[in-house]
Amino acid sequence: MYDYILHQQIKATLIKFKIGKEEDDLSFYSRLISNASAIKSLFDELYQYHPKATEQFDGLIDTLTAAHKKRTAVLHKKDAAKAAKGLWFLSNEITGMSLYVDNFCDNISNLGGKLDYFKKLGVNFLHLMPLFESPAGESDGGYAVSNFRKIDSRFGTLDDLKKVQQKMSAEDMYLMIDIVLNHTSHQHEWALKAKQGEKKYQDYFYMYDDRSIPDTFEQTMPEVFPEAAPGNFTFIPECGKWVMTVFHKYQWDLNFSNPAVLVEMLDVILFYANLGVDVLRIDAPAFIWKQIGTTCQNLPRAHTILRLLKQCVQVASPGMALLGEAIVAPKEIMNYFGTSNFIAKECDFAYNATQMALQWDALATGDTRVMLAAQHELLKKPYGTSWITYTRCHDDIGLGYDDYMIQQASFNPYQHRGYLKDFYSGNAVGSTAMGALFAVNPKTQDARISGTLASLCGLEKAIINNNEAEINTAINRIIVMQACTFFIGGLPMLFYGDEVGYTNDYSYLDNSAKSYDNRWMHRPVIDWDKNNNIDTEGSIEERIFSALQLLNSIRKKLPMVADYSNLTWLSPYNIHVAGFLRQLDEQRLFCFFNFKNEVAYVDWQVVKEKGNPPALLFDHWQKREYIVGRDKEYLIVEPYSFCLLEARQR
Ligand code: GLC
Repeated sequence: MYDYILHQQIKATLIKFKIGKEEDDLSFYSRLISNASAIKSLFDELYQYHPKATEQFDGLIDTLTAAHKKRTAVLHKKDAAKAAKGLWFLSNEITGMSLYVDNFCDNISNLGGKLDYFKKLGVNFLHLMPLFESPAGESDGGYAVSNFRKIDSRFGTLDDLKKVQQKMSAEDMYLMIDIVLNHTSHQHEWALKAKQGEKKYQDYFYMYDDRSIPDTFEQTMPEVFPEAAPGNFTFIPECGKWVMTVFHKYQWDLNFSNPAVLVEMLDVILFYANLGVDVLRIDAPAFIWKQIGTTCQNLPRAHTILRLLKQCVQVASPGMALLGEAIVAPKEIMNYFGTSNFIAKECDFAYNATQMALQWDALATGDTRVMLAAQHELLKKPYGTSWITYTRCHDDIGLGYDDYMIQQASFNPYQHRGYLKDFYSGNAVGSTAMGALFAVNPKTQDARISGTLASLCGLEKAIINNNEAEINTAINRIIVMQACTFFIGGLPMLFYGDEVGYTNDYSYLDNSAKSYDNRWMHRPVIDWDKNNNIDTEGSIEERIFSALQLLNSIRKKLPMVADYSNLTWLSPYNIHVAGFLRQLDEQRLFCFFNFKNEVAYVDWQVVKEKGNPPALLFDHWQKREYIVGRDKEYLIVEPYSFCLLEARQR
């Protein structure tokens, strides 16, 4: 229904901000008008009964308009170019890398000098781990932000970031940074004012005079870091109150039931958008709404907030896509892409954490059945959205897929997870992995896994043992894992250091600000002498780097690898092999990955079951052609190897 009051209000704002007849203004104006009703109804869903709802909604519209006014002509032009391309972020031509700027090259201004390194590898998308001010020693790797608009002096200045963004953009590279939406550092101005007793800012957080409400919350809230930060509330002696701290004690949860918090954070989001960010990683969105009697995770209102933010971003900075960093069960993750009227209108990206963990599962067991059992859930991802696919990142590996998937593969879930944890912490017979358990919950025995890609794949142990054969096996394991990540559909995101096989760094144990958190073992400090070995033929670094280079160049050549919801799983009749088909119109790519340390045989029948049986298959990985054999004849896949077979006619 036409909302006269809403449109009068928008008209007044447009006059106030002198929105004129120029192309960019008209585009903004039409986007605002077409999204206004959705924005209003999502806002009402959250705040209709809040006493300050009207005032804050005015603030929201002002925030959008002001952000549009501040957006540069260059960014407006880029928005238009992306819009003309359509779903630009589904492309097969984007590969990312996630990195800590200080560990990688000391500071932001040095990053510009490293762009050639990324290009050589085939990486054209950078996720810069949190750069905004965060108290040293209590930073959670930068995820405890004390000033959302000031770059931490350790990294440089906002100007440095703008310069590097411009350089990247000029070289057709994309930029991703984080918005830490769920919490601030206890040193953030809002938290400091709350400590001093300012009611306005106490209302920005979940603060309580005594334990009664916190205790009620605690009955149903799980713990995120049960070892390092047990419980979900912290006593603040300065004001004599309890504040909600779901992550660490120094990370205060923002109270999004207060619309002022939403408007403030929207303003920060648009500030980042106007820095030229291409994809915004929304940190921990599963936690942004809290309700007594629930786990306070994945609640419907958290989705309402994400939808609202998405519609707002679409109006003020349409070229910026959103990634929801929800590391949740397969069933839950789909909701982050939007449901009902909002399908594909919530987050554009989510991490495919389930697939990531399942690849680790398959690598440990040599058995792909659990992976296969989960796919019917993962295939529900709506058209127009995409995954970030990854093998490792800065966080731990959680085995968060469902028990029934493990059961379907004929394993006992408790024993199976126990085996995986033993395997990757190096405690299972025959395991060469050197990882460690993270966040062990003494009450439930739940645990996640830390360790670099190389160490989990056995490279660290092989080097210690000075065993050439084990080194080769470890490298093959690394590459088969990455290859699967590159072709499964989505934007592949490498983690810095993995491109040259960094093993665990144990120096975090000597630093009291890090020793309580073993995720630091897999966040290396780059030694450029080591990385320069990529030019030494036969070195470990060169072997891994050049394999990734090749994977990147293959991926970029093959349009059917773009994420158009065009993935079909195959049944290779061999439990050690994961097989899927990527298809776009007539172009088909059959992909097979052998997760076992034994030669695998794949019946040629498999490639004849989906569409016209191909006569020839060209393996882009080994650069060789196969004539498709008869049924009961076999494609041979070497141990920990894979084939990327493009169907060709004779
Ligand atoms: C996200 C980050 C993680 C951090 C947490 C709290 O999960 O990836 O590193 O500890 O949020 O901000």
